[in-house]
Amino acid sequence: MADSKRIGILTSGGDCAGLNAVIRAVVHRAVEGYGWEVMGIRNGTAGLLSRPVETQLLDLSLFTGTFLRMAGTILGTSSEGNPFDYPLPDGSRIDRSEEVIDGYRSLGLDALIGIGGDGSLAILRRLAKQGGINLVGIPKTIDNDVGMTDVSIGHATAVEVATEALDHLMPTAASHSRVMVLEVMGRDAGHIALTAGIAGGADVILIPEIPYRMDLVAERIEELKERGRNFALVVVAEAVRTESGDTITQRHAGSGSDYGGVGYYVAKRIAELTGAETRVTVLGHLQRGGMPTSRDRLLATVFGVHAVDMIAQGRFDRMVAWSAREVIDVPLDQAIASYRAIDPTGPLVRSARGVGICLGDA
Ligand code: F6P
Repeated sequence: MADSKRIGILTSGGDCAGLNAVIRAVVHRAVEGYGWEVMGIRNGTAGLLSRPVETQLLDLSLFTGTFLRMAGTILGTSSEGNPFDYPLPDGSRIDRSEEVIDGYRSLGLDALIGIGGDGSLAILRRLAKQGGINLVGIPKTIDNDVGMTDVSIGHATAVEVATEALDHLMPTAASHSRVMVLEVMGRDAGHIALTAGIAGGADVILIPEIPYRMDLVAERIEELKERGRNFALVVVAEAVRTESGDTITQRHAGSGSDYGGVGYYVAKRIAELTGAETRVTVLGHLQRGGMPTSRDRLLATVFGVHAVDMIAQGRFDRMVAWSAREVIDVPLDQAIASYRAIDPTGPLVRSARGVGICLGDA
């Protein structure tokens, strides 16, 4: 009989599909497999700043069949409020890391499973080092930019949503003889744009990793027209810059600003250079809220079980990862340090070029 333990779990950073499936897997493995108790911490590190600390005991009675299928996170999450650089209403910033650590200690936990992207995992690791927390990380992000894992939870579903968007745009583009521009998320990496663009039959894909020229994009669209094609599908990743190198961002009502709007710039330039009628779809948060695909459900289940097994083996400061058809785990610091962008000479880029997709550079 394994030692009795009490472990915590939190979701941090932007949500994505598959988070509830990880929570489910962790609770099943910990409660059924080891007889442990699992404490859910609400709203990421924000829950550890609240007094009383915001928690929820997670037991098997929660799982009535919906968790595996449900996007979002029942624990809530937060992508703002880094405790090391915490914003105050007057605009100043303070370090609240010791408060987070005190909150964690008050729960009497043996270990913590932190589910996050590279930014959240870096913050959690810093807290773990400072507070002596036994941390296991699980990578999740639609952007798929966490290093040392082939894939992160949530990416496959985002790609599915973006591919489906292209499926929906194609018939209306053809009916109206239009160039449809689809702007997708991905932060500084072009994984969603490239993968969904290939799967959804895009004619042009613009990603931040490959500098483009708008005259070459226009040339490709003209070529398609000469060939008898009356429409074109263009996918652009949100972090793509304008021809003069500017990033386009949107200020959100309420808080912060993010990439957003480059699709309108690209559409305008295509219209100017080709005379085509263009329309823009900014896919936005639909990519985060899709029902998890089977791949994300599987990855979440495999990662959740492995994370609990790592705790049982006392293996901390590591991140669960997927590599060469295996679940493995890697040093958390190395994973955080190795950002994963698109390799411009990699197989997906070669395949895109192989089917005549214009990446704006040739
Ligand atoms: O990192 C995930 C992500 O969805 C990015 O692709 C996007 O740029 C950003 O988060 C949007 O963040 P928010 O939910 O704060 O608008």
